[in-house]
Amino acid sequence: MKLGWLEATVLTAATVANAKDLAYSPPYYPSPWATGEGEWAEAYRRAVDFVSNLTLAEKVNLTTGAGWEQEHCVGETGGIPRLGMWGMCMQDSPLGIRDSDYNSGFPAGVNVAATWDKRLAYQRGVAMGEEHRDKGVDVQLGPVAGPLGKYPDSGRVWEGFSPDPVLTGVMMAETIKGIQDAGVIACAKHFIGNEQEHFRQAGEAQGYGYNITESVSSNIDDKTMHELYLWPFVDSVRAGVGSVMCSYNQINNSYGCSNSYTLNKLLKGELGFQGFVMSDWGAHHSGVGDALAGMDMSMPGDVVLGSPYSFWGTNLTVSVLNSTIPEWRLDDMAVRIMAAYYKVGRDRVRTPPNFSSWTRDEYGFEHYIVSENYVKLNQRVNVQRDHANVIRKIGSDSTVLLKNNGGLPLTHQERLVAVLGEDAGSNAYGANGCSDRGCDNGTLAMGWGSGTANFPYLITPEQAIQNEVLNYGNGQTNVFAVTDNGALDQMASVASTASVALVFVNADSGEGYINVDGNMGDRKNMTLWKNGEEVIKTATANCNNTIVIMHTPGSVLVGDWYDNENITAIVWAGLPGQESGRSLVDVLYGRINPGGKTPFTWGKERKDYGAAILTVANNGNGAPQDDFTEGNLIDYRRFDKDDVEPIFEFGFGLSYTKFEFSDLKVKELSADKYSATTGKTKHAPVLGKAGKASDNLFPSGINRVRQYLYPWLNSTNLKDSAADPHYGMDAKDYIPDGATDGTPQELLPASGPSGGNAGLFEDLIQVTATITNTGSVAGDEVPQLYVSLGGEDDPVRVLRAFDRVTIGAGQEIQWTTTLTRRDLSNWDVASQNWVISSAQKKVYVGNSSRKLPLSADLPSVQ
Ligand code: BGC
Ligand code: BGC
Repeated sequence: MKLGWLEATVLTAATVANAKDLAYSPPYYPSPWATGEGEWAEAYRRAVDFVSNLTLAEKVNLTTGAGWEQEHCVGETGGIPRLGMWGMCMQDSPLGIRDSDYNSGFPAGVNVAATWDKRLAYQRGVAMGEEHRDKGVDVQLGPVAGPLGKYPDSGRVWEGFSPDPVLTGVMMAETIKGIQDAGVIACAKHFIGNEQEHFRQAGEAQGYGYNITESVSSNIDDKTMHELYLWPFVDSVRAGVGSVMCSYNQINNSYGCSNSYTLNKLLKGELGFQGFVMSDWGAHHSGVGDALAGMDMSMPGDVVLGSPYSFWGTNLTVSVLNSTIPEWRLDDMAVRIMAAYYKVGRDRVRTPPNFSSWTRDEYGFEHYIVSENYVKLNQRVNVQRDHANVIRKIGSDSTVLLKNNGGLPLTHQERLVAVLGEDAGSNAYGANGCSDRGCDNGTLAMGWGSGTANFPYLITPEQAIQNEVLNYGNGQTNVFAVTDNGALDQMASVASTASVALVFVNADSGEGYINVDGNMGDRKNMTLWKNGEEVIKTATANCNNTIVIMHTPGSVLVGDWYDNENITAIVWAGLPGQESGRSLVDVLYGRINPGGKTPFTWGKERKDYGAAILTVANNGNGAPQDDFTEGNLIDYRRFDKDDVEPIFEFGFGLSYTKFEFSDLKVKELSADKYSATTGKTKHAPVLGKAGKASDNLFPSGINRVRQYLYPWLNSTNLKDSAADPHYGMDAKDYIPDGATDGTPQELLPASGPSGGNAGLFEDLIQVTATITNTGSVAGDEVPQLYVSLGGEDDPVRVLRAFDRVTIGAGQEIQWTTTLTRRDLSNWDVASQNWVISSAQKKVYVGNSSRKLPLSADLPSVQ
């Protein structure tokens, strides 16, 4: 389906007309301009200098993509040739470089969360940043905090970290710092409420036969927004993230990239975000409207991927010239983009893209979609360095030992090792044989969609176990693998003579544009794929030392088998990336003592998690309405509130040793009184003059590429240049009140330059506990601190702090952490600020959300 920009605008307007009783997103204008406070000062100053020298069309060129498949990267803006600046390259993914070669395939975000290790999150960020940098990428499109994980079976949860906002927030921040320290701009996405694949884009849903004209609306109340979904984005902004991607879905019936409440008020107003907002691919829905609502960059530039139209480009130039968009708003877009560029040091480390997303051939068309300009496209630069080491380490350290009745570690004394299940072996099509990993063949090491990378190789469990046995088994161990899940008889026969049966099972999920086996991104159930339960049953019926290893994007239902007494151990290995097999054998054979903890809850039944993914268009052909009525009670908070027993609770994971917690101490720290932010901003800076239409005509002598999205005018007649039949519509009819006002604006009470009011991040309480390794081997423990905020509507407990520590056998350590004002506050809708309620608060320390041996009342603080 090809939509002109005008038709798309009209569709948007149609929803608003019948929106009377639907959730509503209040307008918030004008769009806050960057101020360059705090760590942004230097970068902002340089950006202002740079942008002050640009013509109108040059500024527009920074904001608009050249069009789908027009350049090397998954999205690329225009450049500023006069100043020797080529276009900016945006490239997926959150786990490595997508659509490239000679790059690494890192573990997924969910594995990083399972390590609970901030240093590893940072190291992975640096390593991914280095790879993107050396391929010529300006913006790595990750990390992910949306989906957060309202739905355990949502397709893209593994791209992000955990349904807990604190765990996700910490991992977002470390990943962002890593990527940006390597000289690449990170992109926190998808902002916000992007909790399911079904209906995320009306067009995609139509392709699946749904008769809807608008994308799903995530209807989220203000308190839930602040206490849950916005939380990790606060940490991202505090970490200095250079860009944020607005999402496909609507929030309270206003599109993610048109939503003045989420973009202008929350992100730029309250959180003080100084970088730029780019649209998700095709999430840009209107020209003037989205500019005023706070979007700064249109990706990949066209209205619909591959169409020759853009809401921006020439149309943005026209809108500034005819004053529907004030000059300061365009200047602000350009300044935000350039400030992010300078902040991470792009000017020092930049190299032009040396690969193409659209072909692996060495030579091909630069402008791929229109077959123009045949050049050397893929320089095949190897950027992997020694990143295999951090990949392998994260793989091992994210491995969660869920059950161990003496099955692990293995000893190399096993007479016969049976390896059972397709998930142990290789993909017969090759590790990259399915585009964007859109199949589940062989061992699973990443999900599918844009959140993937090509593997340089993929070490399967079968290969690694066989090597292990051959290297260390002194010639005394036999090893057999049966990797056809239909070969149950053969499995039974091998299992019946085995000393140990290692059973590999999986479940897969991914992004909505690919349908794998009836799963349109989201999983259609929470059972194992490919007959996995039968494979387990076959093993347990024939071998009383069966060990189950799972590769999954999140929780699966294990109730039918987990407590079978022939299962002597259960391991969750997540989506570990290219070193999968090696990471696993390090744990299976005890070279690495497992210390991973599950970053999500394993419930007995799907219904224990609460609401199901919305799969029925429940609003006629209008936007399906997804009401987030559970508020902030998702994952373990839901189970705790309903007092429902999970099988494995959030934060749980075993070790080959044992830890004890003792001696909890709580100390009040001195802190300043919290005060609401008051006062006004400065006037919006205007950095140049738009000039006249005649200054922004197509330069003579440029070679126009077909369909390419340029910023220039075709004619000094703006109406002709815009080619818009509605040109000249009265601005009053579509420009929201206050949207063009550049005068000083009132500051929001909870606002501040770096993630919000600085008082929120002050430490109020210090907590100390002693952790003792009472076993006979060294190991890692993850002390977890939970707080009960005490209010009737509050979750029973919320995670607020954690660390991963290594403790020698028989040794003890003191763990000290702090609680900030933010950690102890609730969002108060009336005052639009954070408030510490008068309810008695309590602190808990232990090693899972339900194993909390230490607790104490907290002193009342303000
Ligand atoms: C995804 C984004 C991705 C973009 C570019 C979209 O479909 O939602 O996460 O970055 O495509 O490939
Ligand atoms: C592309 C993705 C893109 C998606 C948009 C897919 O065909 O490969 O990069 O984000 O379409 O829905």
